[in-house]
Amino acid sequence: MRVIFLFATIFVAAVLATGHQTHPSMQGMQSLSISYDTPEQFSLLKNYVDDPGFDFVRSTNDLVDVLVTADKIEEFKQLLEEHRMNYTVMIEDVHQLVTEQYIEQQVERRLQARSQDYASGRLSFTYYPNYTEVNEYLTYLTQTYKNIASLITIGNSYEKRSMKVLKLSTGGANKPAIFIDAGIHAREWIAPATALYMVDLMLQNHRDLLTKVDWYVLPVLNPDGYEYTHSSSANRLWRKTRSNTGSTCRGVDGNRNYDMQWMTIGASSDPCSDTYAGPKPFSEVENQHLRDFILTRKGQIKAYLTFHSYGQYILYPWGWTSNVPANEPELVSKLLMNIIASAIMHFVTNNIFTLLSLLFQRNLAIQCAQAIAKSRRTRYTYGTSYNALYPNSGPSDDWAMDKAGIKLSFTYELPGGNYGDLLPASEIKPVGIETFEALKVTHQYVTSKYASH
Ligand SMILES: *[C@@H]1O[C@H](CO)[C@@H](O)[C@H](O)[C@H]1NC(C)=O
Ligand SMILES: *[C@@H]1O[C@H](CO)[C@@H](O)[C@H](O)[C@H]1NC(C)=O
Ligand SMILES: [Zn+2]
Repeated sequence: MRVIFLFATIFVAAVLATGHQTHPSMQGMQSLSISYDTPEQFSLLKNYVDDPGFDFVRSTNDLVDVLVTADKIEEFKQLLEEHRMNYTVMIEDVHQLVTEQYIEQQVERRLQARSQDYASGRLSFTYYPNYTEVNEYLTYLTQTYKNIASLITIGNSYEKRSMKVLKLSTGGANKPAIFIDAGIHAREWIAPATALYMVDLMLQNHRDLLTKVDWYVLPVLNPDGYEYTHSSSANRLWRKTRSNTGSTCRGVDGNRNYDMQWMTIGASSDPCSDTYAGPKPFSEVENQHLRDFILTRKGQIKAYLTFHSYGQYILYPWGWTSNVPANEPELVSKLLMNIIASAIMHFVTNNIFTLLSLLFQRNLAIQCAQAIAKSRRTRYTYGTSYNALYPNSGPSDDWAMDKAGIKLSFTYELPGGNYGDLLPASEIKPVGIETFEALKVTHQYVTSKYASH
Protein backbone atom coordinates (compact mmCIF):
# COMPACT_ATOMS: atom_id res chain seq x y z
CA MET A 1 0.00 0.00 0.00
CA ARG A 2 2.77 2.33 1.03
CA VAL A 3 4.71 1.47 -2.11
CA ILE A 4 1.71 2.09 -4.29
CA PHE A 5 1.08 5.36 -2.61
CA LEU A 6 4.56 6.72 -3.17
CA PHE A 7 4.36 5.60 -6.67
CA ALA A 8 1.07 7.41 -7.18
CA THR A 9 2.64 10.50 -5.73
CA ILE A 10 5.36 10.47 -8.34
CA PHE A 11 2.86 9.77 -11.02
CA VAL A 12 0.58 12.60 -10.08
CA ALA A 13 3.41 15.06 -9.74
CA ALA A 14 4.40 14.13 -13.25
CA VAL A 15 0.82 14.35 -14.47
CA LEU A 16 0.43 17.80 -13.07
CA ALA A 17 3.47 19.01 -14.93
CA THR A 18 1.78 18.21 -18.23
CA GLY A 19 1.68 20.98 -20.74
CA HIS A 20 -1.31 21.65 -22.93
CA GLN A 21 0.01 23.64 -25.82
CA THR A 22 -3.35 23.92 -27.46
CA HIS A 23 -6.93 23.59 -26.40
CA PRO A 24 -7.77 20.18 -27.89
CA SER A 25 -10.91 19.53 -29.87
CA MET A 26 -13.62 17.64 -28.02
CA GLN A 27 -14.88 16.04 -31.23
CA GLY A 28 -14.64 12.27 -30.62
CA MET A 29 -12.95 12.77 -27.24
CA GLN A 30 -13.66 10.08 -24.63
CA SER A 31 -13.32 9.96 -20.86
CA LEU A 32 -11.71 6.79 -19.52
CA SER A 33 -11.27 5.62 -15.97
CA ILE A 34 -8.27 3.30 -15.74
CA SER A 35 -7.12 1.23 -12.77
CA TYR A 36 -3.51 0.34 -12.29
CA ASP A 37 -1.67 -1.71 -9.72
CA THR A 38 1.84 -2.50 -10.92
CA PRO A 39 4.90 -0.34 -11.61
CA GLU A 40 4.79 -1.46 -15.25
CA GLN A 41 1.25 -0.22 -15.63
CA PHE A 42 2.22 2.99 -13.96
CA SER A 43 5.10 3.59 -16.36
CA LEU A 44 2.85 2.87 -19.26
CA LEU A 45 0.38 5.56 -18.23
CA LYS A 46 3.18 7.94 -17.40
CA ASN A 47 4.36 7.80 -21.00
CA TYR A 48 1.23 9.65 -21.99
CA VAL A 49 1.64 12.44 -19.55
CA ASP A 50 3.27 14.83 -21.98
CA ASP A 51 1.03 13.93 -24.84
CA PRO A 52 -1.23 16.86 -25.76
CA GLY A 53 -4.07 14.45 -26.60
CA PHE A 54 -4.35 13.42 -22.94
CA ASP A 55 -5.84 15.36 -20.04
CA PHE A 56 -5.47 13.52 -16.72
CA VAL A 57 -8.40 15.09 -14.88
CA ARG A 58 -8.20 12.95 -11.76
CA SER A 59 -5.55 10.69 -10.25
CA THR A 60 -5.60 8.54 -7.17
CA ASN A 61 -3.24 5.85 -5.95
CA ASP A 62 -5.01 3.18 -7.97
CA LEU A 63 -6.83 4.88 -10.79
CA VAL A 64 -6.71 7.75 -13.23
CA ASP A 65 -9.46 9.47 -15.16
CA VAL A 66 -8.21 10.77 -18.46
CA LEU A 67 -9.77 12.59 -21.38
CA VAL A 68 -8.35 11.34 -24.66
CA THR A 69 -8.77 13.01 -28.04
CA ALA A 70 -10.28 11.20 -31.04
CA ASP A 71 -7.00 10.69 -32.89
CA LYS A 72 -5.42 8.86 -29.94
CA ILE A 73 -8.25 6.92 -28.41
CA GLU A 74 -8.33 3.67 -30.40
CA GLU A 75 -4.61 3.06 -30.26
CA PHE A 76 -4.57 3.86 -26.55
CA LYS A 77 -7.40 1.46 -25.72
CA GLN A 78 -5.66 -1.27 -27.67
CA LEU A 79 -2.54 -0.71 -25.64
CA LEU A 80 -4.48 -0.90 -22.36
CA GLU A 81 -6.01 -4.17 -23.48
CA GLU A 82 -2.64 -5.60 -24.51
CA HIS A 83 -1.37 -4.83 -21.01
CA ARG A 84 -4.49 -6.25 -19.38
CA MET A 85 -5.40 -2.98 -17.76
CA ASN A 86 -8.99 -2.48 -16.71
CA TYR A 87 -10.69 0.60 -17.94
CA THR A 88 -14.20 1.92 -18.18
CA VAL A 89 -15.37 4.36 -20.77
CA MET A 90 -17.01 6.97 -18.56
CA ILE A 91 -18.07 9.29 -21.36
CA GLU A 92 -18.42 7.84 -24.87
CA ASP A 93 -18.44 11.16 -26.60
CA VAL A 94 -17.36 14.23 -24.67
CA HIS A 95 -18.28 16.57 -27.49
CA GLN A 96 -21.79 15.20 -27.74
CA LEU A 97 -22.32 15.36 -23.97
CA VAL A 98 -21.06 18.92 -23.74
CA THR A 99 -23.19 19.98 -26.72
CA GLU A 100 -26.30 18.33 -25.28
CA GLN A 101 -25.69 19.93 -21.92
CA TYR A 102 -25.40 23.34 -23.56
CA ILE A 103 -28.72 22.88 -25.27
CA GLU A 104 -30.33 21.66 -22.04
CA GLN A 105 -28.90 24.69 -20.26
CA GLN A 106 -30.43 27.06 -22.79
CA VAL A 107 -33.79 25.31 -22.77
CA GLU A 108 -33.98 25.30 -18.99
CA ARG A 109 -32.82 28.91 -18.81
CA ARG A 110 -35.58 30.04 -21.17
CA LEU A 111 -38.16 27.95 -19.41
CA GLN A 112 -37.31 29.50 -16.06
CA ALA A 113 -37.05 33.00 -17.48
CA ARG A 114 -40.74 32.78 -18.41
CA SER A 115 -41.79 31.80 -14.93
CA GLN A 116 -42.87 34.63 -12.66
CA ASP A 117 -41.02 33.01 -9.81
CA TYR A 118 -37.62 33.49 -11.36
CA ALA A 119 -38.16 36.85 -13.01
CA SER A 120 -36.59 38.66 -10.07
CA GLY A 121 -33.25 36.89 -10.33
CA ARG A 122 -34.08 33.95 -8.15
CA LEU A 123 -32.46 30.72 -9.31
CA SER A 124 -34.22 27.44 -9.95
CA PHE A 125 -30.98 25.42 -9.58
CA THR A 126 -32.10 23.29 -12.50
CA TYR A 127 -29.27 24.58 -14.65
CA TYR A 128 -25.83 26.04 -13.99
CA PRO A 129 -26.13 29.82 -13.71
CA ASN A 130 -23.64 31.91 -15.67
CA TYR A 131 -21.74 34.84 -14.15
CA THR A 132 -24.51 37.34 -14.94
CA GLU A 133 -27.12 35.10 -13.40
CA VAL A 134 -25.03 34.56 -10.28
CA ASN A 135 -24.84 38.31 -9.80
CA GLU A 136 -28.57 38.73 -10.45
CA TYR A 137 -29.22 36.10 -7.84
CA LEU A 138 -26.98 37.85 -5.31
CA THR A 139 -28.86 41.10 -5.91
CA TYR A 140 -32.15 39.26 -5.56
CA LEU A 141 -31.03 37.96 -2.18
CA THR A 142 -30.17 41.43 -0.92
CA GLN A 143 -33.61 42.66 -1.99
CA THR A 144 -35.48 39.70 -0.57
CA TYR A 145 -33.59 39.40 2.70
CA LYS A 146 -32.86 43.07 3.31
CA ASN A 147 -31.96 42.74 6.95
CA ILE A 148 -29.66 39.78 6.48
CA ALA A 149 -27.99 39.80 3.07
CA SER A 150 -25.60 42.41 1.73
CA LEU A 151 -22.91 42.52 -0.92
CA ILE A 152 -19.30 43.55 -0.62
CA THR A 153 -17.54 44.21 -3.92
CA ILE A 154 -13.94 43.18 -3.35
CA GLY A 155 -12.56 44.32 -6.70
CA ASN A 156 -12.49 43.44 -10.37
CA SER A 157 -11.15 40.38 -12.12
CA TYR A 158 -8.45 40.57 -14.81
CA GLU A 159 -11.13 41.16 -17.45
CA LYS A 160 -12.90 43.66 -15.18
CA ARG A 161 -15.76 41.59 -13.93
CA SER A 162 -16.77 42.63 -10.46
CA MET A 163 -16.22 40.15 -7.66
CA LYS A 164 -18.94 40.12 -5.05
CA VAL A 165 -18.92 38.56 -1.62
CA LEU A 166 -22.32 37.87 -0.13
CA LYS A 167 -22.46 38.66 3.55
CA LEU A 168 -25.16 37.03 5.66
CA SER A 169 -25.50 38.49 9.10
CA THR A 170 -28.24 39.14 11.61
CA GLY A 171 -26.19 41.97 13.09
CA GLY A 172 -24.44 42.30 16.41
CA ALA A 173 -20.75 42.66 17.02
CA ASN A 174 -17.91 40.17 17.53
CA LYS A 175 -19.51 37.16 15.94
CA PRO A 176 -17.28 34.48 14.49
CA ALA A 177 -17.53 34.07 10.71
CA ILE A 178 -17.32 31.27 8.19
CA PHE A 179 -15.88 32.08 4.76
CA ILE A 180 -16.78 30.08 1.66
CA ASP A 181 -15.44 30.39 -1.87
CA ALA A 182 -15.98 28.38 -5.04
CA GLY A 183 -15.14 28.35 -8.69
CA ILE A 184 -11.41 29.10 -8.66
CA HIS A 185 -11.24 26.33 -11.25
CA ALA A 186 -13.51 27.42 -14.07
CA ARG A 187 -14.78 24.07 -15.32
CA GLU A 188 -15.84 22.83 -11.88
CA TRP A 189 -19.37 24.13 -12.31
CA ILE A 190 -20.88 22.17 -9.45
CA ALA A 191 -18.83 24.20 -6.96
CA PRO A 192 -20.43 27.67 -7.39
CA ALA A 193 -23.85 26.04 -7.79
CA THR A 194 -23.45 24.14 -4.53
CA ALA A 195 -22.26 27.20 -2.63
CA LEU A 196 -25.29 29.15 -3.84
CA TYR A 197 -27.77 26.36 -3.26
CA MET A 198 -26.56 26.04 0.33
CA VAL A 199 -27.14 29.78 0.76
CA ASP A 200 -30.63 29.22 -0.62
CA LEU A 201 -31.28 26.43 1.89
CA MET A 202 -29.97 28.53 4.72
CA LEU A 203 -32.09 31.57 3.93
CA GLN A 204 -35.25 29.63 3.24
CA ASN A 205 -35.25 27.04 5.98
CA HIS A 206 -32.27 27.30 8.26
CA ARG A 207 -31.98 30.85 9.53
CA ASP A 208 -30.88 29.46 12.87
CA LEU A 209 -27.45 29.11 11.26
CA LEU A 210 -27.31 32.90 11.12
CA THR A 211 -27.93 33.66 14.77
CA LYS A 212 -24.45 33.28 16.13
CA VAL A 213 -22.27 33.21 13.06
CA ASP A 214 -21.71 35.59 10.13
CA TRP A 215 -21.20 34.09 6.69
CA TYR A 216 -19.16 35.34 3.75
CA VAL A 217 -19.69 33.61 0.42
CA LEU A 218 -17.69 34.32 -2.73
CA PRO A 219 -19.45 32.05 -5.23
CA VAL A 220 -17.22 32.71 -8.24
CA LEU A 221 -13.58 33.31 -7.42
CA ASN A 222 -12.52 33.10 -11.07
CA PRO A 223 -15.24 34.99 -12.94
CA ASP A 224 -13.31 35.29 -16.22
CA GLY A 225 -12.59 31.60 -16.46
CA TYR A 226 -16.12 30.75 -15.37
CA GLU A 227 -17.69 33.00 -17.98
CA TYR A 228 -15.29 31.63 -20.60
CA THR A 229 -16.54 28.07 -19.95
CA HIS A 230 -20.11 29.32 -20.29
CA SER A 231 -19.51 31.35 -23.43
CA SER A 232 -19.08 28.41 -25.82
CA SER A 233 -19.24 24.64 -25.55
CA ALA A 234 -15.72 24.49 -27.01
CA ASN A 235 -14.41 26.20 -23.85
CA ARG A 236 -16.25 24.00 -21.38
CA LEU A 237 -13.11 22.30 -20.04
CA TRP A 238 -11.11 25.48 -19.30
CA ARG A 239 -9.67 25.46 -15.77
CA LYS A 240 -7.43 28.49 -15.22
CA THR A 241 -7.86 32.24 -14.98
CA ARG A 242 -7.76 34.22 -18.25
CA SER A 243 -4.82 36.49 -17.55
CA ASN A 244 -2.19 37.10 -20.18
CA THR A 245 1.21 36.41 -18.69
CA GLY A 246 3.12 37.14 -21.87
CA SER A 247 3.08 33.60 -23.19
CA THR A 248 1.06 32.23 -26.12
CA CYS A 249 -0.95 30.32 -23.51
CA ARG A 250 -3.28 32.19 -21.22
CA GLY A 251 -4.23 31.80 -17.63
CA VAL A 252 -2.87 30.65 -14.29
CA ASP A 253 -4.03 27.87 -12.02
CA GLY A 254 -5.40 30.06 -9.24
CA ASN A 255 -5.04 27.25 -6.74
CA ARG A 256 -1.27 27.08 -7.21
CA ASN A 257 -0.83 30.85 -6.99
CA TYR A 258 -1.05 31.60 -3.26
CA ASP A 259 2.01 32.74 -1.38
CA MET A 260 2.51 29.55 0.54
CA GLN A 261 5.41 27.31 -0.50
CA TRP A 262 4.78 28.66 -3.99
CA MET A 263 6.13 26.44 -6.81
CA THR A 264 7.78 23.95 -4.50
CA ILE A 265 5.85 20.82 -5.57
CA GLY A 266 2.91 19.72 -7.73
CA ALA A 267 2.79 22.94 -9.73
CA SER A 268 4.15 23.91 -13.12
CA SER A 269 6.28 26.79 -14.37
CA ASP A 270 5.02 26.18 -17.91
CA PRO A 271 2.41 28.80 -18.85
CA CYS A 272 0.73 26.24 -21.09
CA SER A 273 0.20 23.78 -18.26
CA ASP A 274 -3.13 23.48 -16.49
CA THR A 275 -1.28 23.74 -13.18
CA TYR A 276 0.80 26.79 -14.08
CA ALA A 277 1.53 28.55 -10.79
CA GLY A 278 1.88 31.98 -12.42
CA PRO A 279 4.94 34.24 -12.82
CA LYS A 280 5.00 34.95 -9.08
CA PRO A 281 2.90 34.32 -5.94
CA PHE A 282 -0.35 36.28 -6.03
CA SER A 283 0.17 37.29 -9.66
CA GLU A 284 -3.57 36.78 -10.09
CA VAL A 285 -5.65 39.80 -9.20
CA GLU A 286 -8.61 37.63 -8.18
CA ASN A 287 -6.45 35.95 -5.54
CA GLN A 288 -5.13 39.33 -4.37
CA HIS A 289 -8.70 40.46 -3.72
CA LEU A 290 -9.49 37.32 -1.78
CA ARG A 291 -6.27 37.71 0.23
CA ASP A 292 -7.04 41.33 1.13
CA PHE A 293 -10.62 40.55 2.05
CA ILE A 294 -9.64 37.72 4.36
CA LEU A 295 -6.70 39.52 5.95
CA THR A 296 -8.95 42.48 6.75
CA ARG A 297 -11.16 40.09 8.69
CA LYS A 298 -8.35 38.09 10.20
CA GLY A 299 -9.46 36.99 13.63
CA GLN A 300 -13.15 37.08 12.77
CA ILE A 301 -13.06 34.30 10.16
CA LYS A 302 -12.80 31.01 12.02
CA ALA A 303 -13.38 28.57 9.17
CA TYR A 304 -12.31 28.69 5.54
CA LEU A 305 -14.06 26.38 3.07
CA THR A 306 -13.21 26.21 -0.61
CA PHE A 307 -15.30 24.17 -3.05
CA HIS A 308 -13.93 22.24 -6.00
CA SER A 309 -14.78 19.15 -8.02
CA TYR A 310 -14.40 16.26 -8.29
CA GLY A 311 -13.73 13.03 -6.44
CA GLN A 312 -15.47 13.30 -3.05
CA TYR A 313 -12.63 14.41 -0.85
CA ILE A 314 -12.54 16.57 2.24
CA LEU A 315 -8.98 17.85 2.38
CA TYR A 316 -7.04 19.96 4.83
CA PRO A 317 -3.48 21.31 4.89
CA TRP A 318 -0.85 20.64 3.92
CA GLY A 319 -0.43 20.12 0.24
CA TRP A 320 3.32 20.70 0.08
CA THR A 321 4.47 18.28 2.78
CA SER A 322 3.37 14.93 4.14
CA ASN A 323 3.55 16.43 7.65
CA VAL A 324 0.20 17.13 9.22
CA PRO A 325 -0.83 20.45 10.78
CA ALA A 326 -0.50 20.85 14.54
CA ASN A 327 -4.27 20.80 15.05
CA GLU A 328 -4.92 17.70 12.97
CA PRO A 329 -6.70 15.92 15.85
CA GLU A 330 -9.13 18.82 16.01
CA LEU A 331 -9.70 18.83 12.25
CA VAL A 332 -10.24 15.12 12.04
CA SER A 333 -11.67 13.73 15.23
CA LYS A 334 -13.91 16.59 16.27
CA LEU A 335 -15.01 18.03 12.98
CA LEU A 336 -14.66 15.52 10.20
CA MET A 337 -16.02 12.58 12.14
CA ASN A 338 -19.12 14.62 12.85
CA ILE A 339 -19.44 15.67 9.24
CA ILE A 340 -19.21 12.10 8.06
CA ALA A 341 -21.58 10.79 10.74
CA SER A 342 -24.04 13.50 9.89
CA ALA A 343 -23.87 12.76 6.17
CA ILE A 344 -24.50 9.07 6.80
CA MET A 345 -27.43 9.78 9.14
CA HIS A 346 -28.87 12.12 6.60
CA PHE A 347 -28.64 9.49 3.93
CA VAL A 348 -30.20 6.83 6.13
CA THR A 349 -33.15 8.99 7.16
CA ASN A 350 -33.76 10.01 3.59
CA ASN A 351 -33.61 6.52 2.23
CA ILE A 352 -35.22 4.49 4.98
CA PHE A 353 -38.56 4.34 3.17
CA THR A 354 -36.92 3.32 -0.06
CA LEU A 355 -34.98 0.65 1.76
CA LEU A 356 -38.08 -0.63 3.59
CA SER A 357 -40.10 -0.78 0.42
CA LEU A 358 -37.30 -2.67 -1.26
CA LEU A 359 -37.59 -5.38 1.36
CA PHE A 360 -40.95 -6.31 -0.13
CA GLN A 361 -39.80 -6.54 -3.66
CA ARG A 362 -38.06 -9.17 -5.73
CA ASN A 363 -34.52 -8.74 -6.96
CA LEU A 364 -33.69 -7.50 -3.57
CA ALA A 365 -30.00 -8.02 -3.92
CA ILE A 366 -29.82 -6.00 -7.09
CA GLN A 367 -31.89 -3.20 -5.71
CA CYS A 368 -29.97 -3.08 -2.49
CA ALA A 369 -26.80 -2.89 -4.49
CA GLN A 370 -28.28 0.01 -6.39
CA ALA A 371 -29.34 1.70 -3.19
CA ILE A 372 -25.85 1.34 -1.84
CA ALA A 373 -24.40 2.62 -5.08
CA LYS A 374 -26.62 5.65 -4.67
CA SER A 375 -25.01 6.29 -1.32
CA ARG A 376 -21.71 7.04 -3.08
CA ARG A 377 -22.29 10.60 -2.06
CA THR A 378 -21.62 9.90 1.53
CA ARG A 379 -18.38 8.13 0.76
CA TYR A 380 -15.94 10.95 1.14
CA THR A 381 -12.24 10.34 1.58
CA TYR A 382 -10.53 12.70 3.98
CA GLY A 383 -7.00 13.63 4.88
CA THR A 384 -4.33 16.16 4.10
CA SER A 385 -4.10 17.15 0.45
CA TYR A 386 -0.63 15.69 0.22
CA ASN A 387 -1.50 12.36 1.79
CA ALA A 388 -5.06 11.80 0.62
CA LEU A 389 -4.85 13.22 -2.88
CA TYR A 390 -1.57 14.50 -4.22
CA PRO A 391 1.18 16.97 -3.39
CA ASN A 392 0.49 20.53 -4.47
CA SER A 393 1.87 23.89 -3.48
CA GLY A 394 0.30 27.32 -3.29
CA PRO A 395 -3.35 26.27 -2.76
CA SER A 396 -5.75 28.53 -0.92
CA ASP A 397 -6.43 26.24 2.06
CA ASP A 398 -2.74 26.05 3.00
CA TRP A 399 -2.48 29.82 2.72
CA ALA A 400 -5.62 30.38 4.80
CA MET A 401 -4.30 28.24 7.62
CA ASP A 402 -0.71 29.41 7.66
CA LYS A 403 -0.85 33.04 6.55
CA ALA A 404 -4.33 34.07 7.61
CA GLY A 405 -4.26 32.01 10.79
CA ILE A 406 -7.59 30.26 10.12
CA LYS A 407 -7.33 27.01 12.01
CA LEU A 408 -10.25 25.31 10.32
CA SER A 409 -9.36 25.21 6.64
CA PHE A 410 -10.88 22.71 4.22
CA THR A 411 -11.05 21.96 0.51
CA TYR A 412 -14.10 20.04 -0.65
CA GLU A 413 -13.89 18.02 -3.84
CA LEU A 414 -17.57 17.54 -4.62
CA PRO A 415 -18.96 14.46 -6.38
CA GLY A 416 -18.57 13.98 -10.13
CA GLY A 417 -20.49 10.70 -10.48
CA ASN A 418 -19.61 9.18 -13.82
CA TYR A 419 -19.32 12.59 -15.40
CA GLY A 420 -16.51 14.32 -13.57
CA ASP A 421 -16.67 18.04 -14.14
CA LEU A 422 -19.52 17.49 -16.62
CA LEU A 423 -21.92 16.56 -13.84
CA PRO A 424 -25.52 17.03 -15.04
CA ALA A 425 -27.41 19.98 -13.59
CA SER A 426 -29.96 17.59 -12.08
CA GLU A 427 -27.27 16.84 -9.46
CA ILE A 428 -27.08 20.42 -8.16
CA LYS A 429 -29.81 19.98 -5.56
CA PRO A 430 -28.84 16.49 -4.32
CA VAL A 431 -25.21 17.54 -3.98
CA GLY A 432 -26.23 20.80 -2.33
CA ILE A 433 -28.50 19.06 0.17
CA GLU A 434 -25.90 16.52 1.26
CA THR A 435 -23.08 19.06 1.39
CA PHE A 436 -25.26 21.29 3.52
CA GLU A 437 -25.01 18.60 6.20
CA ALA A 438 -21.29 19.31 6.38
CA LEU A 439 -21.98 23.01 6.63
CA LYS A 440 -24.31 22.47 9.58
CA VAL A 441 -21.65 20.50 11.42
CA THR A 442 -19.02 23.14 10.70
CA HIS A 443 -21.42 25.81 11.95
CA GLN A 444 -22.12 23.83 15.09
CA TYR A 445 -18.42 23.46 15.76
CA VAL A 446 -17.61 27.11 15.17
CA THR A 447 -20.52 28.16 17.36
CA SER A 448 -19.58 25.97 20.27
CA LYS A 449 -15.93 26.92 20.10
CA TYR A 450 -16.03 30.62 19.26
CA ALA A 451 -19.47 32.17 19.76
CA SER A 452 -20.33 33.92 22.99
CA HIS A 453 -23.24 32.26 24.71
C1 LIG B 1 -8.63 -5.99 -13.42
O1 LIG B 1 -9.77 -6.79 -13.19
C2 LIG B 1 -9.49 -8.12 -12.76
C3 LIG B 1 -10.80 -8.88 -12.70
O2 LIG B 1 -11.78 -8.15 -12.02
C4 LIG B 1 -8.75 -8.05 -11.43
O3 LIG B 1 -8.42 -9.36 -10.98
C5 LIG B 1 -7.49 -7.22 -11.60
O4 LIG B 1 -6.84 -7.07 -10.35
C6 LIG B 1 -7.81 -5.85 -12.16
N1 LIG B 1 -6.59 -5.12 -12.44
C7 LIG B 1 -6.40 -3.86 -12.02
C8 LIG B 1 -5.14 -3.23 -12.45
O5 LIG B 1 -7.21 -3.27 -11.35
C1 LIG C 1 -26.18 34.41 -19.22
O1 LIG C 1 -27.41 34.64 -18.64
C2 LIG C 1 -28.08 35.77 -19.13
C3 LIG C 1 -29.33 35.95 -18.29
O2 LIG C 1 -30.09 34.78 -18.24
C4 LIG C 1 -28.39 35.58 -20.60
O3 LIG C 1 -29.03 36.72 -21.13
C5 LIG C 1 -27.09 35.34 -21.34
O4 LIG C 1 -27.35 35.02 -22.69
C6 LIG C 1 -26.33 34.20 -20.72
N1 LIG C 1 -25.02 34.09 -21.31
C7 LIG C 1 -24.59 32.96 -21.83
C8 LIG C 1 -23.21 33.00 -22.41
O5 LIG C 1 -25.25 31.95 -21.85
ZN1 LIG D 1 -10.41 22.41 -8.48
